[in-house]
Amino acid sequence: MPMGIHEIRRKYLDFFVSRGHKEIPAASLIPENDPTTLFTGSGMQPMVPYLLGQTHPLGKRITDSQTCFRSQDIDEVGDNRHTTFFEMLGNWSLGDYFKKEQIPWVFAFVTDELGLDPSRLYVTVFGGNESLGIPRDDESVELWKQAFASKHIDAKENERIFFYDEKKNWWSRSGVPLNMPEGEPGGPDSEMFWDFGADRTLHENSVYQNEPCHVNCDCGRFLEIGNSVFMEYLKTKDGFAALPNKNVDYGGGLERMTAAAMDTPDIFLIDAFDLPRATLERLSGKPYDSHSPNAKAFRVILDHLRAATFLIANGVIPSNKDQGYFVRRLIRRAVRFGKSLGMKEAFCSLIAEQTVATYQEPYPHLQRQSGDIVREMAAEESKFVKTLSHGEKEFDKMFSQKNAISGEDAFVLYATYGFPLELTEEIAEEKGQKVDREAFQAEFKKHQELSRAGATEKFAGGLADHSEETVKLHTATHMLHQALRTVLGDHVFQRGSNITPKRLRFDFSHPLKMTPEEIKRVEDLVNENIRKDLPVHFEILDLAEAKQRGAVGIFEDKYAQLGGQIKVYFIGDEISGEYYSKEVCGGPHVERTGKLGTLRITKEEAVAAGVRRVKAVLD
Ligand code: ALA
Repeated sequence: MPMGIHEIRRKYLDFFVSRGHKEIPAASLIPENDPTTLFTGSGMQPMVPYLLGQTHPLGKRITDSQTCFRSQDIDEVGDNRHTTFFEMLGNWSLGDYFKKEQIPWVFAFVTDELGLDPSRLYVTVFGGNESLGIPRDDESVELWKQAFASKHIDAKENERIFFYDEKKNWWSRSGVPLNMPEGEPGGPDSEMFWDFGADRTLHENSVYQNEPCHVNCDCGRFLEIGNSVFMEYLKTKDGFAALPNKNVDYGGGLERMTAAAMDTPDIFLIDAFDLPRATLERLSGKPYDSHSPNAKAFRVILDHLRAATFLIANGVIPSNKDQGYFVRRLIRRAVRFGKSLGMKEAFCSLIAEQTVATYQEPYPHLQRQSGDIVREMAAEESKFVKTLSHGEKEFDKMFSQKNAISGEDAFVLYATYGFPLELTEEIAEEKGQKVDREAFQAEFKKHQELSRAGATEKFAGGLADHSEETVKLHTATHMLHQALRTVLGDHVFQRGSNITPKRLRFDFSHPLKMTPEEIKRVEDLVNENIRKDLPVHFEILDLAEAKQRGAVGIFEDKYAQLGGQIKVYFIGDEISGEYYSKEVCGGPHVERTGKLGTLRITKEEAVAAGVRRVKAVLD
């Protein structure tokens, strides 16, 4: 019998407790005292104050299994390994041990305790970046070589030890170094991968089928099972400084380790899903098969309802905003996919009960909250089933008339029947159609304008017209907003904006008169980024997603709430994901910053207590 998830969690915690660590329970999925993020998305989240140097009451060595929820992965669920909810096994050195203990320990844990065959393990290491002034992590390379050598394996570079840059082998809550805000901790990391074998590729068309493939490739052959972050850097204004301590943040994917121990590349086959999966098979009358086209529906349901169970247990109830919006979305997606499995009866609370039964021993609060869990699931499911049946009937009617579904139709479904755009898109996709999101958005905007006729046009940013000069100044306003935040601080928010073809006027919260130096720095920063000729694009996001991706702007406006869909403009490189500005806005904007010319601030004055106004032109 391979080890199950609970046994692996226990073994892991015991392993580190016997190496001087104190075990702590998982923090809530809803971060406390942290308004910057909706969910605990990594083991690091609750540990940030200690990584920044505060003293942990339990000492310098901590171990835990942190429950995590990554809302941004909702759309990834369906393949062999992505889940929105997971447990991250942690071991933390808060200024105590570093690489030379961490690497041999993880290696010993996975080989000696989990029993993984070392010849099927691969690792990646930070390859260095001169412009960041951070060298290749040669110390980790040596330590991995020694660890493998202890199992008589000659771990060669680019054969068993691979090098990647900061896009892959760097960890911070906000990703790559360039995206890290000032004051954020981060560092290079080293990841471990399990090889299911060349014949275990789940993507039939993978180019790597019969050749040794890239550990970071997406074919499903390799699975990242853990990540040792050597967190020793603090982002500053112009680069990095050393943190007060050299820390270790290790995050091991508990479900993934369990899958590796079972040697199944399909995470949904691990024992944590046995009970709910069996219930789903029984209710749908269909067996679960990793290779069947309906595997996706099974996976979405199993993942989403497990996540919703844990979230409700932490006090979140389905609603239209913040965390509740995600619980609603999880349950609704599960219901939709349930229909595609042919489910006729309500099933969400039945699956949730099985999740509670599976996890009640390590997580006794699930049992205590099971009344709420069952009630909320059932209520949301029944509400949505009604919405769905109305909406689907209307969809079919529209579709049968012209064999297509337009963006305008999608909007009618949404506005009249509460039928979410993403569901319209999914059904349309099943029929081989794509919904025109821009047209949906245009209708959305029209509706929004009608519904608040006479109200101030906060979101168009107070544009006098849509002439080329005005549009340029509008994009410049976003850049100015970001530069003010960088130079003066994150307390800077837009309080008003008015743009004519001749000048921009921007009001923002800030208590003091700007100094000539500050004005100059803001101008320089904007002009530097204009000269980079950055591309500008927008995305339609959920309200919560937009917040989570760090967009600034006036979110709580009714417009933003409408359906939870919101338009966010990004200035910067879409491919690298490194953006200079992210702002909630209706547009329009220029396509690239290069055509803006040079920004010059012509006036800086007070308009009210704590609110400053600048006027600026483009030369
Ligand atoms: N914090 C690290 C991660 O999430 C371990 O990958």
